[in-house]
Amino acid sequence: MKLQNITILKGDGIGPEIVDQAVKVLSAISEKYDHTFTYDEQLIGACAIDATGNPLPDETIESCMNSDAILLGAIGDPKYDNDPNAKVRPEQGLLKIRKTLGLFANIRPVRIFESLQHLSVLKPEVLNGVDMVIYRELTGGIYFGEKNRTQDEASDLCHYHRFEIERICKLAFKEAQRRPRKKLCLIDKANVLDSSRLWRDVVQNMKDDYPTVEVSYLFIDNAAMQMILNPSQFDVIVTSNMFGDIISDEASVLGGSIGLLPSSSAGEKARLYEPVHGSYPQAAGQDIANPIATILSVEMMLRDFEMKEEADEIIEAVTHCVDNNLLTVDLLKENALLCSELGDQISRHILSKTKKDYGVLI
Ligand code: IPM
Ligand code: MG
Repeated sequence: MKLQNITILKGDGIGPEIVDQAVKVLSAISEKYDHTFTYDEQLIGACAIDATGNPLPDETIESCMNSDAILLGAIGDPKYDNDPNAKVRPEQGLLKIRKTLGLFANIRPVRIFESLQHLSVLKPEVLNGVDMVIYRELTGGIYFGEKNRTQDEASDLCHYHRFEIERICKLAFKEAQRRPRKKLCLIDKANVLDSSRLWRDVVQNMKDDYPTVEVSYLFIDNAAMQMILNPSQFDVIVTSNMFGDIISDEASVLGGSIGLLPSSSAGEKARLYEPVHGSYPQAAGQDIANPIATILSVEMMLRDFEMKEEADEIIEAVTHCVDNNLLTVDLLKENALLCSELGDQISRHILSKTKKDYGVLI
């Protein structure tokens, strides 16, 4: 029995619906394993702007600082996207929470469910063996460099300090060392950008400390092409903030729906767990979004809480639903489940199995 305090940030658009399903799954796990999860719900993004004028109110920061983990839905609202002059934006809340909590490493695993391979826009044979994880730097680079804007000119500086690159590369090297294929690919634009040449320098200096890891380098434009032509070549990818943002959306298409990809962000304090996809405002309130990415983000959370069996149960329950065509409308045209129905199915499956089925002694 363990006690964990979780801050819940539902955010905007489909955020509340998908987070509700992930909390349902957490409740099933806590019931079955006699853990206590406490939830403190706070505002972030457009809903926080509407309520307080601030995309990241102080209470939200305070709650995150005092929690063991943070579960986030999504942020974003088209009314800000279409107004280039808006002074306050929902995204500022997300960027600020990442920076304030020092969440420098965003970890995005990409695995393919075999029974969904036929739904991918790529040929099934191209998808065989795809199993990669993207380590995206999350608190530096062009996202956070100095910005300037006049009426007719604008600039965003891509700045990295060596230590910012070293700390994420260290995590990525360790992950590569742990995985069976032991491959690490740095994605950059070192043929053009000085900041990318610094990334190469860091990786080249570090690689002797990890002699079993096979290191390769790809320019981002080539990597974008390779991701479609031959995605199974990738094992661990490490890259800067902006390149990681783009290449992970591209990678998310491989599995048939962006609604399947989870992420965790690690730093010095509590970790934050969120799906890779956005707030999908067109679907908000319709109960049709795919909750799997958020539920798999909870699976990553439980693994970090060192609840291995519990995390395995989530994978098993999600795989069971996927294999039995219990899917939302992004993956199934007819007889699709609602978001809340899929959440029910996954939690029910967890509760219906005895712990013994997972090799846990009871
Ligand atoms: C992501 C999102 C965010 C990002 C946006 C919403 C600011 O696209 O988490 O990938 O660019 O980091
Ligand atoms: Mg993104």
